[in-house]
Amino acid sequence: MRMFFSSRRVKRWKFFHFFATCFILSFMVFWGSINNYVMSHMKSYSYRYLINTYNFVNDSLSLKHSSVQPHYKYLINHREKCQAQDILLLLFIKTAPENYDRRSAIRKTWGNENYVQSRFNVNIKTLFALGTPDPLKGEKLQKRLIWEDQVHKDIIQQDFLDSFHNLTSKFLLQFSWANTFCPHAKFLMTADDDIFIHIPNLIEYLQGLEQIGVRDFWVGHVHRGGPPVRDKSSKYYVPYEMYKWPAYPDYTAGAAYVVSSDVAAKIYEASQTVNSSMYIDDVFMGLCANKVGIVPQDHVFFSGEGKIPYHPCIYEKMITSHGHLDDLQELWKEATDPKVTHISNGFFGQIYCRLIKIVLLCRLTYRNSYPCRAAFA
Ligand SMILES: *[C@@H]1O[C@H](CO)[C@@H](O)[C@H](O)[C@H]1NC(C)=O
Ligand SMILES: *[C@@H]1O[C@H](CO)[C@@H](O)[C@H](O)[C@H]1NC(C)=O
Ligand SMILES: *[C@@H]1O[C@H](CO)[C@@H](O)[C@H](O)[C@H]1NC(C)=O
Repeated sequence: MRMFFSSRRVKRWKFFHFFATCFILSFMVFWGSINNYVMSHMKSYSYRYLINTYNFVNDSLSLKHSSVQPHYKYLINHREKCQAQDILLLLFIKTAPENYDRRSAIRKTWGNENYVQSRFNVNIKTLFALGTPDPLKGEKLQKRLIWEDQVHKDIIQQDFLDSFHNLTSKFLLQFSWANTFCPHAKFLMTADDDIFIHIPNLIEYLQGLEQIGVRDFWVGHVHRGGPPVRDKSSKYYVPYEMYKWPAYPDYTAGAAYVVSSDVAAKIYEASQTVNSSMYIDDVFMGLCANKVGIVPQDHVFFSGEGKIPYHPCIYEKMITSHGHLDDLQELWKEATDPKVTHISNGFFGQIYCRLIKIVLLCRLTYRNSYPCRAAFA
């Protein structure tokens, strides 16, 4: 009797699986010609299941054994940066040669190693990752960079042109640097130079993860089944020769994400064997991860592209927020004020903050910040 039932269940399951696959395929065929935003997202979402489950992306984008990734030489480096044994976080900031003001603001706020050391007794290492300036205005800018680095000792630079289409070279710079000079850091984070990171909240979060010895860990604002942009006028245009499927494997927004050291090592290995012509660095990361079978986790307080509403109840839990240039130092002062950590204390404090967060995050009109469910997290 039992045998009979369980085999029937298997058959039913197989039938269901078959049916679902047919449904997805017919969906892709019949709707393929309709091309608008919603459709391309739905299409890519159904494709996502296949992309994340099977190996064809992995197989077709792998370099042949004979070819190797281009290697650039270091113009500015700090091999000694990670001499300390006990490093919680290696923090890379992707910046451009001319963004001196942004680097300067970051050094005074969330990128400040000494602040973290003195407040939490924890080692973090901060490095700005750069390519070379445009040769037309290059020499002066390069001299200034060298001077800046002599003062702060926190720049690493390789000799590729620092441009949007070379972001994957910058990605390779970070992961190969980490692998060569800092493999013992417990976590690696990469971030844009126009974001805000609530370092105290992040440190607390990472310390918790370290205690449970987390592995296979990759967290950020996850893009699921994102479709490649096929519009030639877009900055993110990707030709079919570069990527032929209608969805990318899941990946975290490049604005800021964190991986554990074991993932950093695996991604580095994979990155040496994936065709790096895919110039969108966070998508490239997704391709490498897909290859080694690592999937990202979504965290509601990593904002991705969005800027968060200003309110202490939000600061209490925030990790990152995107698009901060002029207000960085002010936000830093407000968001890391010790008062913030007590804002939701007690019964009324909790209700107050819950309501504020619902009002700020759960609006019907789409706002590109933390999702509504963050109000209940
Ligand atoms: C990337 O950097 C290399 C090396 O500097 C340069 O030859 C190439 O033109 C750059 N590519 C783009 C798209 O900027
Ligand atoms: C990488 O992909 C590009 C297409 O985007 C192709 O032209 C190139 O030959 C590939 N490189 C290698 C080494 O396979
Ligand atoms: C990707 O392909 C390589 C060989 O090309 C294989 O060794 C590896 O297991 C594949 N990765 C996954 C996640 O299947």
